[in-house]
Formats: sequence, C-alpha cells, structure tokens
Amino acid sequence: MNVQNNTILVTGGTGGFGFEFASKLIALGNTVIITGRNTEKLQEIKGKLPQVHTIQSDVSNADDIVRLYQQVTQQFPHLNILINNAGEMRKLSLHHHHALADITREVEINLMGPIRMVQQFLPHLKKQKNAAILNVTSGIALLPFAISPVYSASKSGLRSYTQALRVQLKNTSIKVMELVAPGSSTPLNDKFKNEEGFSTNLLMAPEKIVADAIKGMANDKDEIYPGIAKVMRILSRLVPNFLISQSGKMGASYMYGTNDRRQ
Ligand SMILES: NC(=O)c1ccc[n+]([C@@H]2O[C@H](COP(=O)([O-])OP(=O)(O)OC[C@H]3O[C@@H](n4cnc5c(N)ncnc54)[C@H](OP(=O)(O)O)[C@@H]3O)[C@@H](O)[C@H]2O)c1
Repeated sequence: MNVQNNTILVTGGTGGFGFEFASKLIALGNTVIITGRNTEKLQEIKGKLPQVHTIQSDVSNADDIVRLYQQVTQQFPHLNILINNAGEMRKLSLHHHHALADITREVEINLMGPIRMVQQFLPHLKKQKNAAILNVTSGIALLPFAISPVYSASKSGLRSYTQALRVQLKNTSIKVMELVAPGSSTPLNDKFKNEEGFSTNLLMAPEKIVADAIKGMANDKDEIYPGIAKVMRILSRLVPNFLISQSGKMGASYMYGTNDRRQ
C-alpha cells in the first residue's frame, strides 16, 4: 500500500512505538492523529511534533471509543488507516493477591481495545478506497512469557483475532496487517530491567522496529516480523516447550513467590 498521503489514527501515540509511528508517518506526508490517556504526555508530544493531532482517549473504555470515532470521523473524514498500538505490559506473580477487577487489565487494553476499535471504525474504513488496519502484537503472541501471563494471553488473543479479521475482510478494500514486534527499548520494558535473566542486549530499538513495520506496510505484508521475531517464529514451531520453560527463568524469584516484591 502507499504509505504516503493517508490519514492515520495511532492509538497510544505518546510512547515508544506509537511516537515513532507518528514521527515517521508524518515525515512521509501523512496526516496522523494519536491517542493516549494522559493529557500532559499528549501535550508534550505536540510540542515535539507540532503536526501531530492529539486526542485524549482510553482504549479500554467503550464510551471513549465511541467519542473518539465521532471526533475523528468529523474532523478527519479521509481517515483510512487504523494502527492499534496502545498497550500495557505488567509483570504479575499469580501467587500475589490481585483484585479481580484489575487482573484482566491487559486484556481490556491490548485485546478488547483493538476489537472494539475495529468494530467501531469498520463501517468508515470500508468506505475508503484504500484502507488498512495494523494490529501490534508481539513475539509473546507466539510463545507465552511466564512473568507476564495476562499480557501473553492478550497478545496471542489479538493475533488470533487479527488472523480471523483478515479472512473476514478479504473481499473489502481493507488490508489487515500484524506487527509481531520483538522486545524493544521502550518504557514498557523498564519494569523488567532489574529482574534476573533480563538482558537489554536483546532489545531492538523502536526506531528500527517501526521502520520495518512501515516497510512491511508498503510491501503489503500480512505479518511483519522485525529482528529476532523472525527467529522466535521458527523456534516457536520447532521447540515450543523448551522456550516456554526457558521463559520461567526470567524474574524467577519474583514469579515463584519466594520474593514478595510487588510491581
Ligand atoms: N516494547 C516492547 O518490547 C514491545 C514488544 C512487542 C510488542 N509491543 C507492543 O507495542 C505496543 C506499544 O508498546 P511500547 O513499547 O511503545 O509501549 P510504551 O512505550 O509503554 O507506550 C505505550 C503507549 O500506549 C498508551 N496507552 C497505554 N494504555 C492505554 C490505554 N488504555 N488507552 C490509550 N492509550 C494507552 C500510552 O499512553 P498513556 O499511558 O498516556 O495512555 C503510550 O502512549 C504495545 O501494544 C505493546 O504491547 C511492545
């Protein structure tokens, strides 16, 4: 698809990948609208990237999504690309107490958020001559990361939904893409830095991941696997059980309840 002169909505545009998407896509001549929950962060990004349009919106809140749809389609009727990027990742030892209302938070943001966004924006996107939905999953969609069990479930769920969506939309003008992102040096990973077995050496720069994503979009790729995600894809098929057991080594003392540190 042409990655220039589009109108693109990026959820979670104040952080690592979202900010990179916004900067790179604006530089290519696109109109970009970003969302986020925190109005101060949105203002800060507007200071760094004056061409970006910002709207405060929480993707885990269905009413916010309806309001976002109304505002965006009114102000930007040519909107033709939706990038479901907003996400949260926690480390969760299931040995600790977690309120039932909070334990599913990543599912609400990372899985229910994109599902609702697609449902809300689909009729509008169908009317566009060329449209696309890019869902940001993760290498963790291929293999669970034990220290983040709910995040793992949310991303494999999003991958499954994206594959089904692609089949259902095959006779429309909407291209459905998935960015299977590897670990990256964004604020999302800050909470893992002090865990045993965590290595920042394996993290890929967000600039490179997003550059690969945009290249993949330009080449009409259904699934985009930057860097080590390609290797994870192969290994997840060859030795899944080995990799799952290896993931049990990261943050072991936190995870197995021998250490009562909370996040
Ligand atoms: N970094 C990695 O290693 C990695 C690897 C694979 C996949 N991913 C995925 O890539 C995406 C972006 O991650 P990132 O690393 O760029 O994370 P990040 O730096 O923590 O940024 C997350 C962004 O999402 C926004 N956000 C979070 N919850 C939201 C909500 N409920 N509604 C609206 N916006 C929300 C945040 O803004 P506010 O806090 O202001 O809302 C922020 O703009 C996520 O889906 C993540 O799961 C990341």
